[in-house]
Amino acid sequence: MSLIRLPSPELIRDCVRQASSYVPGEQPQTTDFIKLNTNENPYAPPAQIFEHLSEDLAKVRLYPDPVATQLRKAAAQVWDLSVDQILAGNGSDDILNIALRTFVNPGEVVAFLDLTYSLYETIATVHGVVIKKIPLNEKFELTGPVICPEAKLIFLASPNAPVGKHLNREFLAQTCAQAKGIVLIDEAYIDFSDEDHWDFLTQFDNVIISRTLSKSYSLAGMRVGFGISSPALIQEMDKVRDSYNLDRLAQSLGTAALTATEDFKPIWQQVRQTRDRLTTELRKLDFEVCESDSNFVLASPQWIGASELYQQLKARKILVRYFSHPRITNYVRISIGTDAEIDQLLVVIKAIKTELSPTN
Ligand SMILES: Cc1ncc(COP(=O)(O)O)c(C=O)c1O
Repeated sequence: MSLIRLPSPELIRDCVRQASSYVPGEQPQTTDFIKLNTNENPYAPPAQIFEHLSEDLAKVRLYPDPVATQLRKAAAQVWDLSVDQILAGNGSDDILNIALRTFVNPGEVVAFLDLTYSLYETIATVHGVVIKKIPLNEKFELTGPVICPEAKLIFLASPNAPVGKHLNREFLAQTCAQAKGIVLIDEAYIDFSDEDHWDFLTQFDNVIISRTLSKSYSLAGMRVGFGISSPALIQEMDKVRDSYNLDRLAQSLGTAALTATEDFKPIWQQVRQTRDRLTTELRKLDFEVCESDSNFVLASPQWIGASELYQQLKARKILVRYFSHPRITNYVRISIGTDAEIDQLLVVIKAIKTELSPTN
């Protein structure tokens, strides 16, 4: 192979060169892991959502519907909204990016919490904005509304990741009332909780809600997300998205999944039950566990370093998530698996604990 010439660094935008890549959880290439590291749904979607797949496969020669009409209609039906309040995205990550590019000029301010979904920082850095991080207290809670009048966009995940808990609703409402820019409430985990923020859409003109089918609708592999707001804001965001941002299969399966919402509800209930059981069992095993309204828990072992626990679990073919974030160096995030997977996790943790101190 001929030698490839090194490009001059000046060819690349400064903010891109200085950015670190987003670090996703591992997607192992083998199937022998219990995978509790990327908050996927452990249960397959109901079989009926695949019924029309062969018709869609036969049409892959053709471009998909650029504005995902059927998908947006199905979402509007489930969430009792009008279709023009909904923008479909290639996952909700796409929506976060579109919001950034619609509402913030490079050099302006974007705010988010000091412990939250790490993609906000990656995309904000790459877009060349000034980042303002709002500190959570030692229990990873908001202590008041987010006051940042200079922010053109505030990203707030509720339930928050990787903590799992809802942000205080009153503080969120005060944040929206006082913000001078857009507040995007990221509801990726909302179906595993008791609260939503639909009422904010009627109370405030600066709110966007993002949702995803990756977690509660078991479609992480399809990349389907939504931005929901007033038709006026959605219209502007629509100019910024890629022209065919959702492929044909994603649109088809996403539509079928939303239409089958009632069949997903027992799955959400099951995940919540397993989450509560895991929380109780981990506490018995001497972990500090954050309360969670999501399909994962953030937990800190009091008898082993979290990074060591992550390694030991991985060696025994169980993947959980360890973040090198300074606020959670002694925590692992564990996605909720099936009951059998969680039983296996607990057995393995007990074994590791016993090996470390056989008298316990
Ligand atoms: C808070 C939060 N928002 C958004 C996403 C991304 O979701 P999607 O798969 O729809 O891009 C995640 C994924 O982990 C998340 O934790």
